[in-house]
Amino acid sequence: MKQTSSDGGDLGGGTPREVADKPTKGLADVVAASTALSDIDGKAGRLFYRGYDIHDLAGRTTFEETAHLLQRGSLPSRARLADYGAELARGRTLGTLVERDIPEIAERQAPMEALRTLVSLAGADDPDKDSNAPEANLRKAARLTAQQPILVARYHAARTGATLPEIDPELSIAGNFLLQITGRRPERRAAEIFDTCLVLHADHTMNASTFAARVCAATLSDMHSAIVAAIGTLKGPLHGGANEQVMRTLEGLDPRGVAQAVRDRLAAGEKIMGFGHRVYKTEDPRATHLRRMSEELAEASGDDTYYRMSREMEEVVLAEKHLYPNVDFYAATVYHYLGIPTDLFTPVFSVSRMSGWTAHVIEQHADNRLIRPDSEYIGERDQKWAPIGER
Ligand SMILES: CC(C)(COP(=O)(O)OP(=O)(O)OC[C@H]1O[C@@H](n2cnc3c(N)ncnc32)[C@H](O)[C@@H]1OP(=O)(O)O)[C@@H](O)C(=O)NCCC(=O)NCCS
Repeated sequence: MKQTSSDGGDLGGGTPREVADKPTKGLADVVAASTALSDIDGKAGRLFYRGYDIHDLAGRTTFEETAHLLQRGSLPSRARLADYGAELARGRTLGTLVERDIPEIAERQAPMEALRTLVSLAGADDPDKDSNAPEANLRKAARLTAQQPILVARYHAARTGATLPEIDPELSIAGNFLLQITGRRPERRAAEIFDTCLVLHADHTMNASTFAARVCAATLSDMHSAIVAAIGTLKGPLHGGANEQVMRTLEGLDPRGVAQAVRDRLAAGEKIMGFGHRVYKTEDPRATHLRRMSEELAEASGDDTYYRMSREMEEVVLAEKHLYPNVDFYAATVYHYLGIPTDLFTPVFSVSRMSGWTAHVIEQHADNRLIRPDSEYIGERDQKWAPIGER
């Protein structure tokens, strides 16, 4: 049932303002924005970026092409990709504030907190920081996408004292990230697999961090501010933080007692990280690819314990709760087998999602209206005020 708002409702145009009489907890099923960037069919378990099925993109399209698709509207030709690649390469250079503060931030902040700080600092040195114009936003989107993997790698090197390998211009964003994080030039297949991971995480409709970015952008705040809001939101364990928690769960389980441990946790009302989704009612299409890649890497590593444990967890959670793995479940073991430290799993998510967040800010600024929902008041009414000495 709809009703007019409690503040009188008539907003000057003569049309009473209509609001739902009860909020939907967690805004489930509420359409909060229009977007041409990505689309999910939750019943069929399908995901599309600008109309392209994720199954067609994964393994066949690079992360750079995907970022171009999201930010610039089309899959690039070779020439366009070369131009975009050159822009990304130029955009990798970090600003002076970031350079100066990385060592202390690496000492004092956990990875996602550090990224939140570093992206905020990067805003200070961005030449387009004072403009939300379309061209400025495109340039900032490319710079943020280029800088995010560098920020993670620089942070990691600063906290470990490792010497950071130079960027190899022959390698992709994915290949260079693995090079800088592990200190070794990645094998071709490892770089391909990681590149596919970045493609799979690039955008996902109105997920919590993207929504946060759009709310911020809709006040006509700048792209860096919107991305800081998104990073703070991604950090939580119900969102991007789940991939790290999946690995911690696997590490904490006895490989011989997985099924019973999962049953016990479910019986105690605990959530199992990496399962369930607000929108998918069947298998998350990204999990299909990640499961396959996890199996391949597990076999190649010669120790498939974590992969086998994951399969067992999947069977139990499906049987007990009818819940499917989401993107974070098999991403955890894929990153583990690729040699990425567990506390950098969520930062890896941000490396990829930066392409989608920035595209959403561009989209929001291009056709903006303040995002300002209503709330249902559930507090006291008709309170009688008394002076401080009489309360
Ligand atoms: C993703 C998630 C936040 C979606 O949340 P949501 O749409 O608000 O769904 P709810 O948390 O209300 O869950 C609905 C029911 O399923 C159960 N459920 C959902 N995810 C579960 C999980 N991972 N393990 C166990 N039970 C789960 C809830 O306990 C709830 O049961 P109830 O109705 O008996 O109380 C939720 O599934 C979750 O917390 N998953 C684990 C964290 C995770 O992997 N996040 C990454 C998402 S990509």
